[in-house]
This record gives sequence, structure tokens and C-alpha cells, in this order.
Amino acid sequence: MSDSLPYVLILYYSRHGATRAMAEQLAAGVESCSGVAARLRTVPAVSTTCEAVEPAIPAEGAIHAELDDLRHCSALALGSPTRFGNMAAPLKYFIDATSGLWINGALTDKPATAFTSTSSLHGGQETTLISMLLPLLHHGMVYAGLPYRETELMETTGGGTPYGASHVAGQRSDQPLTESERRLARAQGERLARLALALRSLREAS
Ligand SMILES: Cc1cc2nc3c(=O)[nH]c(=O)nc-3n(C[C@H](O)[C@H](O)[C@H](O)COP(=O)(O)O)c2cc1C
Repeated sequence: MSDSLPYVLILYYSRHGATRAMAEQLAAGVESCSGVAARLRTVPAVSTTCEAVEPAIPAEGAIHAELDDLRHCSALALGSPTRFGNMAAPLKYFIDATSGLWINGALTDKPATAFTSTSSLHGGQETTLISMLLPLLHHGMVYAGLPYRETELMETTGGGTPYGASHVAGQRSDQPLTESERRLARAQGERLARLALALRSLREAS
């Protein structure tokens, strides 16, 4: 992965690893597209105990995101476990620190998408995806879900929605991605990478 290549930032929070597994599939989809790299980043957990401090480098998964990762990305994929039908607080906390980017329009006209994981099939995947869409729209980003040309959207018995990729991880959060969930997450990553290059050219031309 070269720093000089345009990159798709895949920014996620994952407590038990299910959302991280999805993020890795999106990254594989991005990397299947030439001329663009995937950059995986996570955010620290937040706690009501103010003394609780996360280690600077997480024990597993991606390293912590910095605002510059967002500022210089060509596209953004946000991933979060579903928490009461909403995105998880650590991701929201990070997004709430992005007003400087918003004031400068740093993300305007860049493509974005979202992905999630739930324990149950009807546990609020779509509402969580929409909760991540809202700040992306405020930042002026161009939201790209999953089009129905991905025929597995019609066939999946697990996750996978037109609002974005998703995974049903089960009550113990230990179910692996199904083949459909994996393919849809990859397709989402690949589509975002292609849109990143296309919109980059448009921004440079204007
Ligand atoms: C506080 C809290 C709220 C949750 N709310 C929901 C929910 O509304 N619907 C659901 O299906 N799962 C819910 N879950 C389960 C997680 O979404 C699920 O385990 C997810 O796969 C975890 O992803 P991760 O492995 O990336 O942490 C909740 C979990 C926690 C801790």
C-alpha cells in the first residue's frame, strides 16, 4: 500500500470483531481496483469512567484514525456494530470531532458508504446504516449503497442491504460472514474504489 496512491479510508469500530471482519472484506474489494489503496483505521472505545484510557496502539485490528486520515481520503466507508438500532458511541464520538473538516468542506463531493453488524436478523441494520449516512450528508459526501445488480441482495438469508453491506453475527457474535455477506462487502468496497477515482477526476476538473 503506497501513501502516494489515492486511498479509500475504511473507518470502523468493532468490539468483538464482526464489523472488523466486514471491514477487511471491503478492503479486499477496494484493493481489487487498480490505482487506489485501502486504509483501515479504527477508533478508541469510550467510557463513562473518565480515567479509562485506551492504549495508543490497539491490541488487535487497525490502528487508530487521525483527522488527517479523513482529510486526505478519496472516499470513506464507515463501519459500526448496531447498538440499539444506531451506530456505536465510539464512532459517533470520533465523527463529532470533525467539525473542522466540515467548516473547510474537506469531504465535500467525495463518495462514502456504510456497513454494519448485528446479533439478530431484524435488529436494526438499516437504521444503523442510515444513522451513519446522516453525518456523511452533512459533510457533503455522495452516498453510495449497494445496487441490485448485486443479485445476492435478493437471495441473501443473512445480511446485505441496498443501504450498505451488513452481517448477522449471532447472539454470541461468533458467526463468520456468509458467502453472500462476504461477496456483498467486497462488491461495496470495489464500487467505492471506482467511485473514488471517478469523483477525484471530477473534482480535479472543476
Ligand atoms: C449496547 C449494545 C447494543 C446492541 N444493540 C443491538 C441491536 O439493536 N440489534 C442487534 O441485532 N444487535 C445489537 N447488539 C449486538 C451487536 O450489534 C452485535 O453483537 C455486533 O455483531 C457486534 O459487532 P462487533 O463484533 O464488530 O463488535 C448490541 C450490542 C451492544 C453491546
